[in-house]
Amino acid sequence: MNYKAPKGTFDIFGKKAKIYEKIESIGKKIMKLYGFSEIRTPIFEDAGLFTRSLGETSDVVQKEMYIFKDKGNRLLALRPEGTAPVIRSIIENNLAQNNSVKLFYTGQMFRYERPQAGRFRQFHQFGAEIVGTQDPISDFEIIDSSTKILKELEIEYELHLNSVGCKVCRPAYKEVLILFLKDHVDELCENCQTRLYKNPLRVLDCKEEQCKLVTSNAPKITDYLCEDCKTHFEKLLNYLKKSKIEFIFNPRLVRGLDYYTKTAFEALNFSLGSQNAVLGGGRYDGLAEELGGKNLPGVGFASGIERLVTILENSNKTFEKEHKFMVIPITSLEFDYALNLTSELRKYISVLFPYDYKNLKSALKLAVKSDCSYAVLVGSDEIRDNLISIKNLENGKQKSFSKVEFLNIINNERCNFGL
Ligand code: HAM
Repeated sequence: MNYKAPKGTFDIFGKKAKIYEKIESIGKKIMKLYGFSEIRTPIFEDAGLFTRSLGETSDVVQKEMYIFKDKGNRLLALRPEGTAPVIRSIIENNLAQNNSVKLFYTGQMFRYERPQAGRFRQFHQFGAEIVGTQDPISDFEIIDSSTKILKELEIEYELHLNSVGCKVCRPAYKEVLILFLKDHVDELCENCQTRLYKNPLRVLDCKEEQCKLVTSNAPKITDYLCEDCKTHFEKLLNYLKKSKIEFIFNPRLVRGLDYYTKTAFEALNFSLGSQNAVLGGGRYDGLAEELGGKNLPGVGFASGIERLVTILENSNKTFEKEHKFMVIPITSLEFDYALNLTSELRKYISVLFPYDYKNLKSALKLAVKSDCSYAVLVGSDEIRDNLISIKNLENGKQKSFSKVEFLNIINNERCNFGL
């Protein structure tokens, strides 16, 4: 039996793994500049945590959760997203006791979706949450920092923004929307005909052309916001404008998870086809209370790393090469010295030692196969004069340096040996 990675999952290695690493390191760097610290929550949680937070009628809860019973008969779910676990952890560990808390995370999420380009059953998110404040500055910081990650990766995006109101103003809007949609029920897709009563806001977000046509004239939620939601939205828009962050007000933007209140946003990249959201997020002021905690308003975002990777792969963007070296004894007489040198150089650079050493020629071949940029050749001259001889494996050129010179080049000139 030949086993394969399960449907909707794939292995990440080689160049792809380097792109993941790059995205995560840029994400971490930026979030730290905004004062966030890292949180790691379990990959599986009590299934009820998600049913409760994401909403019984959301697609994720209705059809996409990986749910299983463990040997202790507990009903568990592989996490489909990171916000609910972070809020659970903040409540459980009292992390926002006297202050707001800023946390970021990265890791696998699981949704039993129909796999297609940009949509997988196991995928990675990089996300962040600010919990414990209603200040629209925190909404601004989430949008500002998340889009900065895209900018640093040189990924193009269009930022769409809306306010989805709160439990005070949304019910009245829902009624108006249902009345409007009822008049057009025959024009809606089958899915939206049921959504109309269960979760009418989701009709606004339907990708079917027939539904888009109907909802283009639908009443806008922003015309029904209560004073509190309106002021909050205006302040946020103001901060964004002052910081020259471009956005498109999109009154049809509602998010797929039910916990959102006030701010909702998505960054879209149109090279991706239908799964074009590279990140999304918003405010969720009632979530902590819904999960049994105290009133802890919050706002956050998550970005789909696979979608960012696809864009970077397609753009052929190159990141600075991390050079690998192989230390090669010219004859077996220099074997022990070369082994020592390898461990010394590993303090500074990435070094391989040739396994199953036979001779110089076979070791050089192995160095090329192992994707090394340079060989460090060790012969009797190098040992006698304490030299480091570097061979560029692409063009075959060779040069010798004193150890001090060599370390200087490594530290200051990023492996520019003039070869
Ligand atoms: P979400 O919109 O469900 O929000 O997911 C965020 C991002 O994850 C999406 O924009 C997309 O890039 C990526 N994504 C979602 N599903 C898949 C999939 N099946 N395959 C590949 N990528 C996917 C959330 O998850 C919220 N927790 C975001 C948030 C944080 N809101 C507030 N704080």
